[in-house]
Amino acid sequence: MIDTHSHILPGLDDGVEDLEQALSTARGAVQDGIEGMICTPHWISGIFENTKSIVTAAVESFKQHLQEHNIPLALYPGAELRVHLEMPAKIAQGALLTLNESAYALVELPAEIIPPRIEDFFYSLQVEGVTPVIAHPERNPGLARDPARLYGWIESGVLTQLTAGSLLGTFGGTIRKFCLLLLEHGMVHLIATDCHGHRNRAPRLSKAMREAEATVGKTVAARIFCENPLEIINRGTVTPFELLPLGRRFSFSLKKYFSFFGRDR
Ligand SMILES: [Fe+2]
Repeated sequence: MIDTHSHILPGLDDGVEDLEQALSTARGAVQDGIEGMICTPHWISGIFENTKSIVTAAVESFKQHLQEHNIPLALYPGAELRVHLEMPAKIAQGALLTLNESAYALVELPAEIIPPRIEDFFYSLQVEGVTPVIAHPERNPGLARDPARLYGWIESGVLTQLTAGSLLGTFGGTIRKFCLLLLEHGMVHLIATDCHGHRNRAPRLSKAMREAEATVGKTVAARIFCENPLEIINRGTVTPFELLPLGRRFSFSLKKYFSFFGRDR
C-alpha cells in the first residue's frame, strides 16, 4: 500500500514534531504494510509556507535518516494545499508541489465552508494541467449538506481522497456513513492516512482497506489503496470509477459535523 497523505516530515507543520517521532511513525507505517508515503505538509498561505524547496530538502534529509535506521519506507515529496487564489500560478511557477510532481495536487478546503466559486478555482487548476484531489471531503459539513455538489465536481474531473480513520469511525458514525455512501457511488479515488504522528493519528491503512473490500470488493479496494497511488507516484493517470447516480436524498446530522470543527488538520 502507498499512503498519499502524511504529515511525517518533522517540524514543518502541525504534524510530527521531531526526528524521533518521525522515525517511530515510519516504523508504524511499515509494520502496517505501507511501502511508500507521499509527504504532504500543509501549505496554508501566511501560516505554513511549505514551498517546493523546503519540502524537497526535508524529504531528502528524512530519507537519509530512514536509510541509516534501516526502515524500508519509500518517500515522495508533496503538499496539502489549502485553497488560495494564488495556488494555480504558484504550481505553474514550480513554487508549490503537486503529489510527487505528478498532474495531481492534494487540495484542502477550509474546514467550515465551501469557498464561493470553488468550481472556477478547480477549473483554473485544470487549465494548468493539474487535477485537484480533494482531501477528506467527508469531513466538510458543506458537502455533507449537499453531496450532489461533490458529485458534480467529480463529473468535471476532480478526484477525492478519504481519510482512512473516517471510514473506520474515528470521527464519528455520521462521517463513517458518508464515507460508505461515497464509496458505494464510485466517488472515492484514494484513501490515505493523513497521519500526524505515531500516536496521534498514526499511519494505518490495512484495516481501512479491509473495510473498503467488504464494501466495494477487493478489485476496487486494490485500485483505491494500491493502483491509483502507484499511478500518481509514477506520474501516470488515475482512471475514475463509473459513478452511480445519487438516487436518494441524504440527511446527516449537521450538529455532529459542527461539533467536529477545529479538528480538521
Ligand atoms: Fe492533512
